[in-house]
Amino acid sequence: MSGATVGDTAVTTNDEAFARAKRSIPGGVNSPVRAFRSVGGTPRSLVAAHGPYVTDVEGREYVDLVASWGPAILGHAHPEVVAAVQDAAARGLSFGASTLAETELAELVIDRLTVTPGSHHLTGRSLVTTRLVDELRLVSTGTEATMTAIRLARGATGRDLIVKFSGLYHGHSDGLLADAGSGLATLALPASAGVPADIAAQTVVIPYNDRAAVRAVFEEHGDRIAAIITEAVPANMGVVPPAPGFNAFLADTAHQHGALLILDEVLTGFRVGPAGWWGETAFAVREEDDGSRALVSPTYVPDLVTFGKVIGGGMPLAALGGRRDLLELLAPIGPVYQAGTLSGNPVAVAAGLATLRLADADVYAHLDRVAEVISKGVDDALTSAGVPHVISRAGNLFSVQFRDTPATDYVAVQAQDAFRYAPFFHAMLDAGVSLPPSVYEAWFVTAAHDDATVERVLDALPAAARAAASARPA
Ligand SMILES: Cc1ncc(COP(=O)(O)O)c(C=O)c1O
Repeated sequence: MSGATVGDTAVTTNDEAFARAKRSIPGGVNSPVRAFRSVGGTPRSLVAAHGPYVTDVEGREYVDLVASWGPAILGHAHPEVVAAVQDAAARGLSFGASTLAETELAELVIDRLTVTPGSHHLTGRSLVTTRLVDELRLVSTGTEATMTAIRLARGATGRDLIVKFSGLYHGHSDGLLADAGSGLATLALPASAGVPADIAAQTVVIPYNDRAAVRAVFEEHGDRIAAIITEAVPANMGVVPPAPGFNAFLADTAHQHGALLILDEVLTGFRVGPAGWWGETAFAVREEDDGSRALVSPTYVPDLVTFGKVIGGGMPLAALGGRRDLLELLAPIGPVYQAGTLSGNPVAVAAGLATLRLADADVYAHLDRVAEVISKGVDDALTSAGVPHVISRAGNLFSVQFRDTPATDYVAVQAQDAFRYAPFFHAMLDAGVSLPPSVYEAWFVTAAHDDATVERVLDALPAAARAAASARPA
């Protein structure tokens, strides 16, 4: 397929499509990163996506390593997901009323996040039963999920302050668009025009992976803090894994001070494993005599968890889950208000259910293998081209840092030869591989990335690495 029709005009090139978009859509895009600002050039205007590929308006097909920023875990337009969506759509696009399917989805998520002795979800036999989520409220975007989690934490604790880490992204609600103030434990400043200073000042922003900063904030403001919010694995400044035990430390510190931990698994949930990053990493493991692994006990259980992306299988769906006593503070039972015309939308729920049901152990094993092969290919190519770099990886998520040592916080992430990414990105794009259009984003693989697709990526890498090597700062 080549070209597309907008109104009564045929559009056949990406340049035309973007020029046309800019006349009626701010910046030509409906989400800023799509504008290619950090890599330059013309964004591709897409007309279709199937399996591991996306196709642009010029009819060019690219191996896709964006996967709609995470949701397309099975690859694009998986036939069973499309069939489920078609079936649901034929029965009604939106009811604004309860459905059995949304209960099924809540039950499936709760089940996935319950670790029982003999659990098949995790690599290892569990000796304990741990349930991460008792109840789940469905919303439409990750932004809504984290915004509601924060309101709920405030409602539950009667406190206002939120602790957030610099460089971590939790959507674009006012209080989460905050930048660090001048001192370690000082109140934050607006990170966007339009965010009132008074609202930003209800957030304290500190460096990631920094236990001393966390302690300092709680010493200074302990009895005013409602919650710490953290990405399970930061992946919105590129991938920056938590230091071992850091999430458990956050849970302990919050709980010692009567605050809550909100674990944001919007990006990692159902992507890095069937029970998210928490399921993959939160358990103390004992090696048994027969070589098997036993999960002894969870090192931490967050109070609230947010999900998005994969849970909706590519449709607008997200969720907030956690302990029953907290979730039942939400309206209509409790005093914390939250609502949504399209919440639990039946078509989105159908996509989410179909996607989660198909995302079995084989899918996760495949994602891990593909991530391993591609990230090693990037590593080898950049090494051969003599480009200083680190591959930062957390499960099947990874990204490149153009620096010598792994960055553990946002300041370090920014101290890299970011100028090398644009030529690298464009060389890959020219060779038919679509990477995230920013060095500060994770790469996403899918179950549809087969050997032939991976080969195309590997073949494109040496020239891209040479382009990165010859890049010079602007
Ligand atoms: C960790 C995390 N939280 C929240 C969000 C916001 O989700 P949405 O874009 O659906 O509002 C994102 C989006 O990238 C995310 O990565």
